[in-house]
Amino acid sequence: MLHPLRPFTTVVLAVSLDGKIADRQRSPARFGSAADKHHLEAQIAQADAVLFGAGTLRAYGTTLRISHPELLQQRQAQNKPPQPIHVVCSASGNINPQIAFFRQAIPRWLLTTAIGAQQWADQDGFERIIEAEDASGLVDWFAAFQTLATLGCDRIAALGGGELIAGLLTADCVDELRITVCPIILGGRTAPTLVAGEGFLEAIAPRLELIEAQTIDQEVFLHYRIIRHSFP
Ligand SMILES: NC(=O)c1ccc[n+]([C@@H]2O[C@H](COP(=O)([O-])OP(=O)(O)OC[C@H]3O[C@@H](n4cnc5c(N)ncnc54)[C@H](OP(=O)(O)O)[C@@H]3O)[C@@H](O)[C@H]2O)c1
Repeated sequence: MLHPLRPFTTVVLAVSLDGKIADRQRSPARFGSAADKHHLEAQIAQADAVLFGAGTLRAYGTTLRISHPELLQQRQAQNKPPQPIHVVCSASGNINPQIAFFRQAIPRWLLTTAIGAQQWADQDGFERIIEAEDASGLVDWFAAFQTLATLGCDRIAALGGGELIAGLLTADCVDELRITVCPIILGGRTAPTLVAGEGFLEAIAPRLELIEAQTIDQEVFLHYRIIRHSFP
């Protein structure tokens, strides 16, 4: 089902050749090249908001700010603030307020449930707390994306991890994916992959159309669009 009002959403992630987004210790993914980092920064520069799961924030402790002068100029020319809004998705709200993320010069929003919102009610850290809970106690993507669109988030870059991306795909909230395939094999039964969750049966799995494949040095930059079938 197509949502009447929601941001255009691009998933941006680097994967190992075997589709992992981190090693089995869930370490921060540092296997992408400088070209991949620039690609990620360029995608972030296109966005009004970047969205990531609390697991990703717990792994990194920080988020990626735009620092490239050309990208900052580009945003200024488009009348956009220097940094997009960094939206953390957490059902629990259980995020350590001491991590460096809270000292970074960026706008921070929290997307959460009633319990999560309660955790942050008397604490600084987030400029805005968006509460959107579904019947199972998770974030209701339909409601959350409508709220984000209403608040001026026309373009979202979803930066992972696998749990967050699974939820977005299940809720039909993804328009395109920009995946960098990196020359490393991580393996591991428990190492996170691009899409976690319960998985899709093949018959109803999201289908993609390849828009572009670009090779830079040892990495392949893939750009896929989600195929949507419109029914009369
Ligand atoms: N290779 C890359 O480009 C890349 C990019 C990003 C991350 N990573 C790696 O990915 C790993 C983290 O991925 P992950 O799948 O474990 O975690 P994740 O998706 O980043 O975060 C999972 C957490 O986000 C919250 N969440 C996700 N979906 C939710 C929903 N629908 N409703 C409410 N809350 C929701 C929950 O937070 P609470 O537990 O607080 O409720 C959940 O536990 C790390 O190892 C990181 O290094 C790699």
